[in-house]
Amino acid sequence: MTLDMSQQEAGLVRDRYVLGHSSEEYQRLQRQGQTFEAVTRRLFHAIGLRPGWTCLDVGCGPGETMRLMGEMVGPSGEVTGLDRDSNAGREAIARLQATGTSCYRFIEANMESADDIGGELFDFTFARLALLFTRDPVAVLRRMYRWTKPGGTVAVQDLYVRTINLYPRLEACSELLRVILETCARSGQDMEFAFKLPVYFVDAGIGAPDGTDIDLPMTSLEPFVAHHQALCRSLLPRAVELGVTTQERMQGVFRDLEQARADERQYSALWPAMIGVWKRKPMR
Ligand SMILES: C[S@@+](CC[C@H](N)C(=O)[O-])C[C@H]1O[C@@H](n2cnc3c(N)ncnc32)[C@H](O)[C@@H]1O
Repeated sequence: MTLDMSQQEAGLVRDRYVLGHSSEEYQRLQRQGQTFEAVTRRLFHAIGLRPGWTCLDVGCGPGETMRLMGEMVGPSGEVTGLDRDSNAGREAIARLQATGTSCYRFIEANMESADDIGGELFDFTFARLALLFTRDPVAVLRRMYRWTKPGGTVAVQDLYVRTINLYPRLEACSELLRVILETCARSGQDMEFAFKLPVYFVDAGIGAPDGTDIDLPMTSLEPFVAHHQALCRSLLPRAVELGVTTQERMQGVFRDLEQARADERQYSALWPAMIGVWKRKPMR
C-alpha cells in the first residue's frame, strides 16, 4: 500500500472484495454486461419496467445494468446506482449521462451497513451479481425492500455455478474452474446462493417471489473460456494470496487454453445458470 493512497482506496483494499477494483476489472464487467444483457433485459420486461420509473441498482459497478434500466425508464425516469466503489460509480455516471437516455445518479454506500441512503423510495430496486459477495444477503434484501415504494418491485439476479460442465473434458479448463470456484468459496461466497433466493426473500420478510427466470446457456469452448479466463485474471491476486494456485501455474493453464481455443475441436460448454427472482411490494 502506498503512503499517498486515498482513504477510499485504502477502504477498498480492506474490503477483501474478491474481484478487486482495477480498471481492467471495470472493463471486464462492461464486457460481461454485454454477455448478460439479453437475460437481464428479459427479466426487466417480465417485471414490466416502464417510462417514468425510478430505479435503484445495488452494487452497480461500472453501470451496465443502469444503462439497460435507463433505456427502459427513459428521460422521464431516473436511475440511481449504489456501490461502495465510488471510482466505478463516478465513471459510470459520466458515461451514462452522455447517452442522454435517462437521468443518472450515484450513491457511494456499503449495502451491508447503509441504512439511510437519503430517504427516497424507488419503483424498482435491483441487484445483479452483487449480493453473492455479502456476508448477510438476507439483511441486504431487507434493506432493498425498505428502499422500495409500496407497489414497487424488488429483484435479484445472480449466477448458480453448479451447472457448469464441459465435454469432452479439458484439463486446463478444469483447473481454471477449480481456481475460480475454490477462490470464491474460500473468500466466503456461498456457491449455492442464487438457488436459495426464494427462501431468502421469505426470510427477509419480502415474501414468496411473484416470479423466477432462469437462463442456462450452452455454447462452444471459445466464449466459455474467454468469460472464465477474464474472471480468473481478476481474482488471481486473491487466489495466489490464498495459496489456491501460483502465477506461474496459471500462465501454463492460460497457454494451454489458448492452444485449445485455436484447435478446431468441438466442445459442448454448459454455463452457470443466471437465476432471477422478483416480488412486488403490496400497496399497503
Ligand atoms: C460483480 S460486480 C457486478 C456489477 C453490476 N451489478 C453488474 O452486474 O455488472 C459486483 C459489484 O458489487 C459491489 N459491491 C460488492 N460488495 C459491496 C458492498 N458491500 N456494498 C456496495 N457495493 C458492493 C462491487 O464494488 C462491484 O462493483
